[in-house]
Amino acid sequence: MEYLKLDIKKTILFLMFIKTMSFLKEIIKRRTFGIISHPDAGKTTLTEKLLLFGGAIQEAGAVKSHKIKKAATSDFMEIERQRGISVSTSVLAFNYKEKKINILDTPGHKDFAEDTFRTLTAVDSVIVVIDVAKGVEEQTEKLVEVCRMREIPVIVFINKLDREGKDAFDLLDELEQKLKFKVCPLSFPIGMGYNFQGIYNIWGNNLMLFNADNKQRISKSININNLNDPKLVDCLGELASNKLLEEVEIVKEVYPNFNKEDYLSCKQQPVFFGSALNNFGVKELLDCFITIAPSPRKKESVERIIDPSESKFSGFIFKIHANMDPKHRDRLAFIKIVSGKFKRNVAYHHVRMNKKFKFSSPNAFFAAKKEIVDESFPGDIVGVHDSGNFKIGDTFSEGEHIFFKGIPSFSPEHFRYINNLDPMKSKQLAKGIDQLMDEGVAQLFILEMNGRKVIGTVGALQFEVIQYRLEQEYGAKCSYENLNIHKACWIESLSKKNDEFNEFKKLKNKFLAKDKNGKLVFLSDSSFSLEMTKQKFPSVKFHYKSEF
Ligand code: G4P
Repeated sequence: MEYLKLDIKKTILFLMFIKTMSFLKEIIKRRTFGIISHPDAGKTTLTEKLLLFGGAIQEAGAVKSHKIKKAATSDFMEIERQRGISVSTSVLAFNYKEKKINILDTPGHKDFAEDTFRTLTAVDSVIVVIDVAKGVEEQTEKLVEVCRMREIPVIVFINKLDREGKDAFDLLDELEQKLKFKVCPLSFPIGMGYNFQGIYNIWGNNLMLFNADNKQRISKSININNLNDPKLVDCLGELASNKLLEEVEIVKEVYPNFNKEDYLSCKQQPVFFGSALNNFGVKELLDCFITIAPSPRKKESVERIIDPSESKFSGFIFKIHANMDPKHRDRLAFIKIVSGKFKRNVAYHHVRMNKKFKFSSPNAFFAAKKEIVDESFPGDIVGVHDSGNFKIGDTFSEGEHIFFKGIPSFSPEHFRYINNLDPMKSKQLAKGIDQLMDEGVAQLFILEMNGRKVIGTVGALQFEVIQYRLEQEYGAKCSYENLNIHKACWIESLSKKNDEFNEFKKLKNKFLAKDKNGKLVFLSDSSFSLEMTKQKFPSVKFHYKSEF
């Protein structure tokens, strides 16, 4: 009898062990990342090529298929189709060499930068695409700054080597100076533009040659033992092979060897060269990426650090997507799973509302299509239907009171009063504004002085998006009125005594507003007046983002 009991206990322990191991295996195989770039550097093209390797899309023949671009990437919203601008962020998942890859697509247009910033809260690493001719551009600098703040490991892909561009070493310098990177080239180009011959893959120690007649294909991929291999001269000719030898020598002398720990702790950024359009250097990038990029990482909450391997589910909403189906005014909230298993039809705790929610049809995303899933793992993104309850940044758990950190709002760049054009539809307008703000389309400020509503956006285009969507989705009409605001600052009193703060509030009442969460905001009309106010009230702290 005793033996039997012991055996049952052992079997249970063994089964639990197997279950835990298979759960950990699922976590380890996931790579959730974003591709970021200045518009036109080739982010969409690279995404397509990665999907091709994963077999997630089939492309007939050549490259540059905009049909795929339209179908495969973020194209859910009507307005996006109209404008041809990637307004929304979508998720593209595929399997490659036993890894589950989740690409979180980010809008390239600068007016939607806030969307991209939020998406960066849900990725575990990023690939930065740089145009060889343009080098480091403005939008890249901003996005990399956010990656640095969030300590996100970065791999660089220098694209469009089939075109004339900047010298490879100059570009590496630029990456170090403008982006403060410590670069580590893992491939190196042989020529460029008209003279582009191929790429020496330092990471895989092989040589990929470009077909001289047809620049759409890789003509050969040659494994070489070392750079003195006679095959090098046979393939490239004496001149080019000598140049490559010299350049690789410099790379080895000047730049550090690859160190995975340094990459993961953002102290080093591996660099690849290639041409996304020609599918050149992309596979090498992907093969290295799946080897070195991190699996789902720990995430900080206000209360404690959550490890993905914890058995209890937790996750947060980083994106709300409206109008997926124009016939229904439903919204899809994207949840990044931080820990545990997310299961269909299980009631989860919505921390902010202190309420349980059960999802009967959670969606997972596979390239162009979405599917209902029964369970998802840390690193995955699930889309759940929302009838207007959720906000960006909301946390779900199995009951624990945790709030995930790190989805701050930044000061908008443009501000306008919003007016109701149809008094019969004021309720619809208020609801529309409310829900669009929950989605993070723009920020709403309500003036303390008179209760007027001010909309703040990152780009001027968003005002049109809001107007269009209020009309299409809520049947409400609005107009805007210009407002001369330089910056919005979230304010905090550093002094225990409230005298100075009260004086500040009295004197600056005209410029004070409450944001969506009721936090006090100072809307300064010029950088000069902001500076003066700071000097006059030293115990008032002015923050450029809503989390401090
Ligand atoms: P984005 O998402 O970063 O905005 O860039 P996207 O991939 O849309 O690429 C922008 C342009 O650059 C596209 O051309 C694309 O074909 C081209 N491109 C991407 N990768 C390469 C490359 O490796 N070599 C060359 N030569 N071009 C590349 P377009 O003319 O703007 O538009 P389209 O007519 O091709 O769409």
